[in-house]
Amino acid sequence: MLLLIKNGTVINPGDQTQAEADVLVEDGMIKKIGAALPVKAERVIDAAGCYVMPGFIDMHVHLRDPGQEYKETVETGLRAAVHGGFTTIVAMPNTKPIVDNPDVVRYVHNKAQDIGLAHVLQAGAMTRGERGEELSDIEGMVEAGIPALSEDGKSVMNAQLCREAMTLAMKYDIPVLAHCEDRNLVNGGVVNEDGNAQRLGLKGIANSVEDVIAARDMILARETGAALHLCHCSTKGSVQMLRFAKQVGLRVTAEVCPHHFTLTSSDIPEDDANYKMNPPLRTQEDVDALKEGLRDGAIDVIATDHAPHTAIEKGEGLKHAPFGIAGLETVASLVMTELVEPGYLTMMQMAEKMSYNPAKILGLDRGVAEEGKPADLVVFDPQREYVINPADFYSKGKNTPFAGRKVRGMVMATVVDGRVVYER
Ligand code: DOR
Ligand code: ZN
Ligand code: ZN
Repeated sequence: MLLLIKNGTVINPGDQTQAEADVLVEDGMIKKIGAALPVKAERVIDAAGCYVMPGFIDMHVHLRDPGQEYKETVETGLRAAVHGGFTTIVAMPNTKPIVDNPDVVRYVHNKAQDIGLAHVLQAGAMTRGERGEELSDIEGMVEAGIPALSEDGKSVMNAQLCREAMTLAMKYDIPVLAHCEDRNLVNGGVVNEDGNAQRLGLKGIANSVEDVIAARDMILARETGAALHLCHCSTKGSVQMLRFAKQVGLRVTAEVCPHHFTLTSSDIPEDDANYKMNPPLRTQEDVDALKEGLRDGAIDVIATDHAPHTAIEKGEGLKHAPFGIAGLETVASLVMTELVEPGYLTMMQMAEKMSYNPAKILGLDRGVAEEGKPADLVVFDPQREYVINPADFYSKGKNTPFAGRKVRGMVMATVVDGRVVYER
């Protein structure tokens, strides 16, 4: 079956080209890219006025499956993913049970394959049960195909154990995706430590909670040689340290989430837990540093930390509700509205941070729009405006601080291995 995506502007971060062209897809692969291709295809997508980009790759998603299917399932998560323009996602291991052995890895991979929407790569926990006491079955999980190790939801507080996990990550050539949070420094905090914590009557989370572990993990990565990727960076300190680490040649990369470059702690209204996530919304100074880091390359990736929770759970208020917001279905519009439109990023950089760089970090032969490569593509209309409405989400998680926000940029179609898995 032939698929023709016509009249779009094709962005290929692989060779840094951007040109009006048609894309012909056959047998799951990009067969030809060229101006006004004279072919009759069974299926045609008119991408006039749109960008045709490599499908987005989200390095940070919570699918909640197994064990918390009332929050999300592999299927609802994947429907949300393709609605958001994603063709590959990395699932975090803090499920119930924790993904700390090959059986759970296979369970998620098999389920995702049966559903067949986007690619799912299940990350493996660094320690058994994410309890931080002993290493998980890392070798077994590598055999089962994990793309990375991560203790997401927390840090491995025992530095020796963390070092051992990094040594194995180095041995098996997979990156460590680090959630940087010093458990002792958190000290009961739920929002950023600033005047807004007082305004809301809540305990604060200092920047040092993140910065201390970011520094520690970079030191351990240098010593072990492991590839380290810092998850959801939220502080100015993280960006400064990343810049330095890259200058001295460390194997370190990092991601930022849309909420952390769009909102500050001042935006939190009285007791609305849709603004509660970990790490928390920080200050304008941090937001400015994150945007500058994205612009100058200190930050490589935009990821969502898609963390669906139920309305009942989020109704418990800022103090007691779980951390996290749904992110898969709003990220592309927020990147367009908050970063591309104001000139922080070009469309090419958007493609780099949402496809090309994640593919590189994960060692995937994707993230480009090139002949002979797998046809994972997204058709993105940069002009179309809309108001974010969680009722439109395919995710079970409607927990977003962006409800009612007017944004620009809309995913029009998503193609995975040549199959149109979402079309507006
Ligand atoms: O906001 C968050 N939610 N941060 C995390 O680290 C974990 C995640 C979750 O699992 O809900
Ligand atoms: Zn995390
Ligand atoms: Zn997470």
